[in-house]
Amino acid sequence: MDVIPTGRAAGAEITGVDLAGDLTPETLAAIEAAFDAHGVVFFRGQTITPIQQVAFTRHFGEIAFNVFGERWSVPGAPEIVVVSNVQENGEPVGLVRAGERWHSDMVYTATPPRGTMLHAIEVPELDGLPLGDTMFANAAAAWDALPAAMQQRLEDKVGIFDFLGRKRSIPVTEDEARRHPPVRHPIVRRHPRTGRRSLYIMRDDCTGIEGMESDEAAMLIEALAEHITRPEFIYRHCWRPGDVLLWDNCTVQHKAVIDYDLPLRRLMHRTTMGAAPTM
Ligand code: OGA
Ligand code: MN
Repeated sequence: MDVIPTGRAAGAEITGVDLAGDLTPETLAAIEAAFDAHGVVFFRGQTITPIQQVAFTRHFGEIAFNVFGERWSVPGAPEIVVVSNVQENGEPVGLVRAGERWHSDMVYTATPPRGTMLHAIEVPELDGLPLGDTMFANAAAAWDALPAAMQQRLEDKVGIFDFLGRKRSIPVTEDEARRHPPVRHPIVRRHPRTGRRSLYIMRDDCTGIEGMESDEAAMLIEALAEHITRPEFIYRHCWRPGDVLLWDNCTVQHKAVIDYDLPLRRLMHRTTMGAAPTM
């Protein structure tokens, strides 16, 4: 197995691993170390079943269930969420336009997931040009790059994160809204395994900062959201069918590039890792 950093602000490719086979404890430990170090890791050319994807995800902690997965999973694997623009008989087969603005997954829960995994099954392509990339921003590098005065101002601040703050691609039901009251998280997060700090703040979900006037908080959220997504903190993943990619929801934020539409098809299988503490 080799770990080949992308040379960008996040991400590494892992080669020499067949995720459909049995992984030794040493291989798993090496994958986990690369995941902790790079925030995003990916494997090309994989052929795995939904059950194998779920089993691989479980190595990183228990599976978390995503509220949208209740609507779009695959037969026999309720842990998978289908992320897709494909329609069958006029009905979507998956969650469409997932994550089209910068975010970290499920920040609206009290215990957001450690990470998320996507397995690319179909990637849209226009005359050989792959579309539907995913962008990642290294929020730990963004923290490191802040001036000391700003770091001091942010230290110990707690944000309010609201499920209803984000405009979603599909309407949220009343029941889904009721199950997700606003939650609090520190906006400077310490990685539960590496101890590295990262900025945990974004537009939409983060609707306020405790003890701060709303105008001041809005200005800070805007400034930091722009800072985190500066070009120098970005890795942009260009998908190929057979890619299996994992991101760390503490270290990076991500955003789907929606530059394709039907008849070009995109089909991903998504699994969500169990919680990582934020406090
Ligand atoms: C997600 C997500 C982005 C993409 O599944 O959480 O944000 O490019 N997906 O599909
Ligand atoms: Mn997402």
